Amino acid sequence: MNKRIFAGAALLVLLSGQVLAQEGAATLYEAHVNLHDIASVQRGARVFFNYCAGCHSLEYMRYERISQDLGLSEKQVLDNFDFNGAKFGDHAISSMPAADATKWFGKAPPDLSLEVRTKGENWVYSYLKSFYLDPSRPVGWNNTVFPNASMPDPLWSLQGVQTAVYAAAKPGEDAKVEKLEINQPGLETPEQFDRTARDVTAFLTYVAEPNTYERERLGLWVLMYLVAFSLLAVFLKREYWKDIH
Ligand code: HEC
Repeated sequence: MNKRIFAGAALLVLLSGQVLAQEGAATLYEAHVNLHDIASVQRGARVFFNYCAGCHSLEYMRYERISQDLGLSEKQVLDNFDFNGAKFGDHAISSMPAADATKWFGKAPPDLSLEVRTKGENWVYSYLKSFYLDPSRPVGWNNTVFPNASMPDPLWSLQGVQTAVYAAAKPGEDAKVEKLEINQPGLETPEQFDRTARDVTAFLTYVAEPNTYERERLGLWVLMYLVAFSLLAVFLKREYWKDIH
């Protein structure tokens, strides 16, 4: 009986490995996000609100919260991140009506509050690096990490325009993308663009787990409290035992 359960479990492990292998058809880059690099998260917020927030909302995130967590003043946040005339206490909602978006892109841009939690930071980072021109797609762009995505490359002016180099196709099969090449340079070098993509991913990682900073601040207090009470306990013990011989 035990053997059978073991065999079943082994089979399940094998099968789930298979599914993972199929889903991860495109290799992902490592994002190396560092939430303690606050400057990176701040730069990511700036990129997000300049290049993404026209289409995507962060339903669960208020401007005020961003200001507190990232150490920015109300004025800095409203001047740099709020292009919709929203109030400081409002959620970061895109001004694009979902119905129009569906008409334009065939799909409404999803809310990105929990994106990193569902897809992972490496996926988001790799997705932002993997757009290429594809005239056969309605929006003119395609993506190797998310094939046939209906999102035009938001960062092409920074990264440059990538085109695909196709592998020789077997008869009856569609040609597969072998690699992407920058055909028309952007404002940033590839290294600078990697940093930009990492920064946006860092910001979205923070957004998906907004308690990160608060938890750490709280954790520090809890530790200090524990240390203080341990000291107190030691002194009390000494005090009590002083007279007992
Ligand atoms: C012009 C509108 C537009 C802009 C600007 C835009 N997006 Fe998108 N985005 C879309 C649409 C539409 C989809 C849905 C694609 C699909 O499902 O085919 C999407 C999908 C996504 C997804 C995948 C969601 C999923 O299905 O898991 C991510 C991640 C994403 N966008 C991130 C970004 C980031 C980061 C930026 C800014 C750098 C950005 N987008 C800018 C329209 C936009």
